[in-house]
Amino acid sequence: MDNPNKKAGAVQHAPENFVDHALAVAIEKDGLSAERRGFLRRSFLAAGAALAGGSALAQTSVKATFEGDPNILTLPEHALTLGKPVAAYPYGVPSKYEVNLQRRESPGLTRVSAASVAFTPLQSLFGIITPSGLHFERHHQGWVDIDPATHRFMINGMVKNPKVYTMDDLMRMPSVSRMHFIECGANTAMEWGNVAVPTVQYSHGMLSCSEFTGVPLSVLLEDCGYDKKNAKVILAEGGDGSSMTRTISLDRALDDVIVAWGMNGEMLRPENGYPLRLVVPGVQGVSWVKWLRRIEVGDQPYASKDEAIHYADAMPDGTLRQYTSIQECKSVITTPSAGQRLLDKGYYNITGLAWSGRGKIKRVDVSVDGGRNWRTARLESPVLTKCLTRFNIDWVWDGSPVVIQSRAIDETGYVQPKINELRAVRGTKSIYHNNAIQSWKIDVSGEVSNVQVY
Ligand code: MTE
Repeated sequence: MDNPNKKAGAVQHAPENFVDHALAVAIEKDGLSAERRGFLRRSFLAAGAALAGGSALAQTSVKATFEGDPNILTLPEHALTLGKPVAAYPYGVPSKYEVNLQRRESPGLTRVSAASVAFTPLQSLFGIITPSGLHFERHHQGWVDIDPATHRFMINGMVKNPKVYTMDDLMRMPSVSRMHFIECGANTAMEWGNVAVPTVQYSHGMLSCSEFTGVPLSVLLEDCGYDKKNAKVILAEGGDGSSMTRTISLDRALDDVIVAWGMNGEMLRPENGYPLRLVVPGVQGVSWVKWLRRIEVGDQPYASKDEAIHYADAMPDGTLRQYTSIQECKSVITTPSAGQRLLDKGYYNITGLAWSGRGKIKRVDVSVDGGRNWRTARLESPVLTKCLTRFNIDWVWDGSPVVIQSRAIDETGYVQPKINELRAVRGTKSIYHNNAIQSWKIDVSGEVSNVQVY
């Protein structure tokens, strides 16, 4: 498939009613709690114990001394009493001290919150897996909680044997479990307009990563005897009120697409498509049809409303580019990031996420001088195809103003572009597929903010 960030042909359909246009409006600054703002200082102290002796760390000016905390000599109350019983919560919940860790909706983003987005708090997560309760949500017509006992999934169209499956039918078929990212095509949409979104949660938080379990779609298509000679595409249809329908090429459908019921070791959450959703690795989130009820096999793209008038790229010459589904290679520094504050000069672990819809991440470079010099970051394992990859790099802040950035390169050799490189091809009317390098500015007070560097 072509790289959608290169100039490409025109498409026929004019936009009438972009639901996701709403994503282009400015959003309100959401109050990060004082606790989360202090996060950088606290995490530094924890890391200090583990890394003492490291060369960058040795240059720290922060003093975590024994003398500084004489209370350590007194046993705390919780070390002297009986703790809570097992199964106090039959389904475990996070500590009450983590109550501010939430996916957040941006007030006023859309007219009704049933057709809105709740963003994943990337700034506070570790590793690559998104806890299921913090997985971002994007619904066009609200979410539904469907009884799996009554749910049915149909395959029809260009197949010898059209079939209707129950959940029991599906769950006894051969299944696979794979870790993949899902990113909405409109993630980072507001950055097209040089609008400074206040935190990475809102700029990049339509991004999550989970282990998904289900039956490969190829197994089901074989089971129904798809037309091997003439079939070219499938159409996936959701069971909610939005009549979500998306065309996917047959090649992709037979490659790594999964009809999934599992997410992070348990059934999907209702917001994320319970009991059945399509997992389309590397492809924009809209094709990951939730509450999946039907797949039709066909011989040409369906140009449904969700691909003719929505989710098409507005090009500078006034045309709309359709079917640009791949999420290109991208990365972002999640800590330090806008809305956080460095409390002192000294050592920091710069950390972030990188991903590519075309395969594995090969390298991530980090700049702490606005893109003049780059150092290669450490990629943490596992580095998987079409999956988030965590990167880390040591840094000592000398207290002067800096701009920090990350730049990812995937296994195809594609290099994440600068925003002006992307604008040169895509213009400024785009909503979708902004994979530009993100810049965070740190000022002398340690405040981190969102800036654009050309
Ligand atoms: N499927 C249905 N049936 N209805 C929807 O509104 N939203 C799509 C997609 N699948 C949607 C859907 C969009 S735009 C995205 S980005 C992803 O689901 C979001 O998935 P999530 O809510 O699990 O994060």
